[in-house]
Amino acid sequence: MTTASVDRIEMGDLTCWSLSFNNSKLLIAEQGAQILRYENNGEPPIIWLSEHAEMKPGNSQRGGVPVCWPWFGDLLRNPDSVQAMHQQPQQAGAHGLVRSIDWALEGVEQREECASITFSYNSLEQPLAHWPHAAELILSVRLGERLSISLVCRNLGDQPLAFSQALHSYFAVSDINQVSVEGLQDCSYIETLEDWQARTQTGALHFSGETDRIYLNPPAKLQIIDPLWQRTINLLSTGSHSAVVWNPWIDKAQRLSQFDDAAWQQMLCIEHANVLDDAVTLAPATEHELALDIWVEHALTSHPLV
Ligand code: BG6
Repeated sequence: MTTASVDRIEMGDLTCWSLSFNNSKLLIAEQGAQILRYENNGEPPIIWLSEHAEMKPGNSQRGGVPVCWPWFGDLLRNPDSVQAMHQQPQQAGAHGLVRSIDWALEGVEQREECASITFSYNSLEQPLAHWPHAAELILSVRLGERLSISLVCRNLGDQPLAFSQALHSYFAVSDINQVSVEGLQDCSYIETLEDWQARTQTGALHFSGETDRIYLNPPAKLQIIDPLWQRTINLLSTGSHSAVVWNPWIDKAQRLSQFDDAAWQQMLCIEHANVLDDAVTLAPATEHELALDIWVEHALTSHPLV
C-alpha cells in the first residue's frame, strides 16, 4: 500500500506545492517551476535549500533546482546563435529569464506509483524582455521510488530557436571536504576560474577550493559519494551533454545572495545542462527534452566501506 499526495501551500509570498510519496517529500514553487527541496523523512535533505532563501516574487530562491533558460550563465559566454536571440545581449542577466517568473500549473496527479505535477511557460502568453521568440517549456516532476524531472522545450515559431539551459540542482552534502563526484574521470572540462582553460579530469572529483567547471560530454550517470552520511546520490540524465559543477567556497559564499557564509560546506551544484557546443537549436515545430532521475542509495556504491 503506497501513499501519494499533492497539496497546495503558501510559503512566504509564494504559492508552492508539497508532494509526498511514501517516505519522500518534495516542495516546488510555481515561480520558476522551481523545485525547492527533496528529502526522505527523517534523513538529511537530498536537494538543498538555503536557510536564507527568500520566498518572494521576482527572485529565484537560493537552492533547489532553478531552471536556467533560454541561456545559461553569462549570455556573452554563449555561442553566437544563442546570443543572437537576444536584442541586448550586453545587458542580459545571468541564467536566463524564467527562474523568477510565474509558470502555469498544468496539472497534478496522485497515483498508486507516484505523485506528480506539471508546469508550463509560454513566451507568446508571457513575453520575455528583449527575447522576441515563440517557445513553450513544460517542466514535469514525478515523485515515486525516485525523483524524475523533465524539461521539454518546443519551438512554436517559424524560425530556428537557439538556446542553452540547465537544471541548476543544489545537492545537500555532509561536508564538502569529504564528498566526491564519480563519473567525471577522464572527462574534458572548461576551468572557468582559470581563464576558461580546457583541462582533463583525473580520477574522481574532490573539492578543495572554489569550483566552477563545465564538463563536456560527461556520462549519463554521475554519483555524489558522501561517506559521512553513508549515502550515494545517483543522477541519471538524458538530453544533456554538459554538466556544470559548482561550489562557491569561502570568499564567494560571502558575496552570494540568500546564502549563509558557512553554507558552502554543505552543498554542491551539479547542473545538467546544454551549454557551449552542446547548446540546442530547434527547427520549427520540434522539441527537445532534458531529463534527470535522482535517487539515493544508503551504501557507498563506488567506495564501499570495508
Ligand atoms: C553557477 C555558475 O551555475 O551558478 C556560477 O557556474 C554562479 O558561476 C552560480 O555563481 C550561481 O549563480 P546565481 O546567478 O544563482 O547567483
